Amino acid sequence: AKLRTATFVLQSTTVKKLCGTQNIITVNGQFPGPTIHARNGDTVIVKVYNNAQYNATIHWHGVRQFRTGWSDGPEFITQCPIRPGGSYTYKFTLTDQEGTLWWHGHSSWLRATVYGALIISPRLGSTYPYTKPHGQVPILLGEWWNRNPIDVVNQATQTGAAPSVSDAFTINGRPGDLYQCSSSDTLHISVKNGETKLLRVINAALNTDLFFSVSSHTMTVVAVDALYTKPFQTNVLMLGPGQTTDVLVTADQSIGRYYMAARAYSSGQGVPFDNTTTVAILEYEGSSSTTSNPNMPNLPFYNDTQSATSFANGLRSLASNDHPVFVPRSVDKNLLYTIGLGLINCPGQSCGGPNGSRFAASMNNISFVLPTTSSILQAQHFGVKGVFSGDFPDNPPVQFDYTAQNVNRGLWSTVKGTKVKVLNYNTTVQVILQGTNIFAGESHPIHLHGYDFYIVGTGFGNYSPQNDPQKFNLVDPPMRNTVNVPVNGWAAIRFVADNPGAWLMHCHLDAHITWGLAMVFLVNNGPNSLLSLESPPVDLPQC
Ligand code: C2O
Repeated sequence: AKLRTATFVLQSTTVKKLCGTQNIITVNGQFPGPTIHARNGDTVIVKVYNNAQYNATIHWHGVRQFRTGWSDGPEFITQCPIRPGGSYTYKFTLTDQEGTLWWHGHSSWLRATVYGALIISPRLGSTYPYTKPHGQVPILLGEWWNRNPIDVVNQATQTGAAPSVSDAFTINGRPGDLYQCSSSDTLHISVKNGETKLLRVINAALNTDLFFSVSSHTMTVVAVDALYTKPFQTNVLMLGPGQTTDVLVTADQSIGRYYMAARAYSSGQGVPFDNTTTVAILEYEGSSSTTSNPNMPNLPFYNDTQSATSFANGLRSLASNDHPVFVPRSVDKNLLYTIGLGLINCPGQSCGGPNGSRFAASMNNISFVLPTTSSILQAQHFGVKGVFSGDFPDNPPVQFDYTAQNVNRGLWSTVKGTKVKVLNYNTTVQVILQGTNIFAGESHPIHLHGYDFYIVGTGFGNYSPQNDPQKFNLVDPPMRNTVNVPVNGWAAIRFVADNPGAWLMHCHLDAHITWGLAMVFLVNNGPNSLLSLESPPVDLPQC
């Protein structure tokens, strides 16, 4: 195993997009930020200097951070922010993950421009469980605002209104041919006829589920969230923000140029549909760039839940001898968490939401509020009282038809809180994530820090504890760090709480985390020091 070291300098950088010029926060002046390459088993050390004028942290999305929770990165959960002028060194070891992960800012909406790929090759001496490709390309799907994204969210928070939508989708930071002033900046990926490329697709968008497709070419999915899958052929991917999908694409068509493209999957009722599409070009060697325009792939319509669902249902863990699965057969803690949007009453405040309320989002009706005087992990470790409470409920306060359209919303006026669920070391946990239609139904990409989990079942409507468990896949369910909970539906996840620390679970649509769609698992230390959280680093930022 090797040490992989990098230096990240957060700084303000001038970038031209969509016929205009913007100052954005970047890492080392690059947008997207630098790719980190490592092998499974390597240790990664990244020193971050914050030369920007905003608070910052970096999160290593999907890295398990076994015993190294201090390096996880979410602001006020595992660390206080790195203040302007400050620095912090993240250090962690990659364990049993191979494929594509990524890193991003985890403070306000910093991640709109602060993100990059983390590519994990097979462990030294081992190889891919599929035919070695002739090359690999990270495909980072993103969103672009013609404004500073942190100003966008701050304005929305002040007024209580919904934040404005982005001005473009991007591939590796570039909107592509179909947007104004963007064609000279379109990403070209060149392939030789007959060769196979590994595309490492990452949804780094802030607020949008995205379909992705390559014109005329079938994709073979081989991994999701840095965990191998059974090879699965498809013409379209759907990725929620936070998710990654590794696909093999063989240049088996006539020599030419083909668009790869991404556009929104917008499951919610009344959610504004952004009909814009970002493209990159797959360009065979020998095709002249003066020929006619590349063909567009057939992307599903924006509200095509069926396409999103059939893609998700095709995913299975590889579950081979070399890459076995250990799906828990029984559970110690069975939790039911509702997830959804709601409204919060706000007398005497500025309220930009419907009926003099403001938008909120919650889990089990609690809208999560970040602490400000300490991170949760620091408060726990140093015994600081009053930062959080340990009473996050195991069930929603009221049971009824969560997915009905016309429920009595008075039953359900959201409350704010900074509550955690405490888990003893090695507890086997099942969480039913139940989507609601209390304000509006929508699919939610729910991300758990510190763990990968098995998705043993998903469905539409209300979860039935009598009938649904009989249909669970306990043989080869997909394992991920982010699950798309279907619109007006549910997902059942299982994991063993063997990683001590404070682990945020949240919707990866940043608008929803801003509104409080989050909670924290506080996992106790194991029976000895080798199964416990390491000591905090000396340079850990203080609040
Ligand atoms: Cu990708 Cu809490 O983050």
